[in-house]
Amino acid sequence: MTVLITGGAGYIGSLTARLIRASGRATVILDTLENGHRKAVGDAPFVQGDVADSSLVERICSEHGVDEVVHFAAYKAVGESMSNPEKYFNNNVIGSQKLFGALNNAGVERVVFSSTAAVYGTPSTVPVRETDPLHCESVYAETKLMIENTLRWYAQTTPMRHACLRYFNAAGASDDATLGEDWRFSQNLIPHVMKAVLGHSPVLQVFGNDFPTPDGTGVRDYIHVEDLARAHVAALDYLSAGNESITCNVGTGHGTSVLEIIAATERISGKKVPHEIVARRPGDPSQCYADAGLITEKFDWSPQRNLDDIISSAYAWHSSHPQGHDS
Ligand SMILES: NC(=O)c1ccc[n+]([C@@H]2O[C@H](COP(=O)([O-])OP(=O)(O)OC[C@H]3O[C@@H](n4cnc5c(N)ncnc54)[C@H](O)[C@@H]3O)[C@@H](O)[C@H]2O)c1
Repeated sequence: MTVLITGGAGYIGSLTARLIRASGRATVILDTLENGHRKAVGDAPFVQGDVADSSLVERICSEHGVDEVVHFAAYKAVGESMSNPEKYFNNNVIGSQKLFGALNNAGVERVVFSSTAAVYGTPSTVPVRETDPLHCESVYAETKLMIENTLRWYAQTTPMRHACLRYFNAAGASDDATLGEDWRFSQNLIPHVMKAVLGHSPVLQVFGNDFPTPDGTGVRDYIHVEDLARAHVAALDYLSAGNESITCNVGTGHGTSVLEIIAATERISGKKVPHEIVARRPGDPSQCYADAGLITEKFDWSPQRNLDDIISSAYAWHSSHPQGHDS
């Protein structure tokens, strides 16, 4: 069995690719390297190219004997998706549609897809369940929902089955601190906290302390990227066992506030996180965390790492890689 991993030179993809190889499957990574790093691929088979290049995808499938795909390749900046929607519809939606067409031609029948909790928008209740209403509030989220729907139609009309994984907040770095997120390009909270604690930014801005949450700051579900990577292996196993297509949350089921992240960072690093409270950002939900019941019931998976593991791995990675993989 060979797994094609699109976007496998990126943050989540590189960790997952390493774990899939370690689980005994052969892999081949396809990435443009636009937002990924050759160094993050290591010695795994690698092709530099675009998922929208159908003949390239079909050639990779036949040369490597691909029978499963994990599809990470996408743009992911919510703000940019609102200022440049065409870029996101083109790369995420049209790119994925071309990819699925090529995979179908090549006879690939199992696809694991990186979706997002952003498809729920502002949740009316927490924890968020897969059956809750979907309400995309950005072009980025809409592109992910469009890809989910495309896969649903493939499942109805072809032998292709899928696992759409709706990630909550991916966080942390690999346990050995050799793979992680590049804070120069990240919009996520924890890289910003790390910048502040390591003196690479003067102050962390905390957007709002008047939310209806226990300490007033926003609450999110942070899932360790190693646990997230394990969820992909579990999804491949689930589909390989012949199970039907599934769409499920990948989160811990627990919410953590911004102030709790800051406190954990100060405790683990022994340093202060300079921060200031500023106004809420429009559209930020007060709290969003997963109901993780479906994934833990259907997959051989549960989260194994906690907030301290997230913070200590992020601290180790960012301390040693201030320029990401270019360090
Ligand atoms: N990071 C998160 O918290 C989060 C949350 C929910 C969903 N996701 C999704 O997970 C996936 C991976 O996220 P990440 O944080 O690792 O992002 P990333 O930007 O680090 O990785 C994406 C990779 O895809 C590559 N890529 C982009 N377009 C491509 C194309 N057309 N063909 C080939 N390669 C292409 C990039 O070069 C990059 O290496 C994305 O689909 C993202 O939308 C991420």
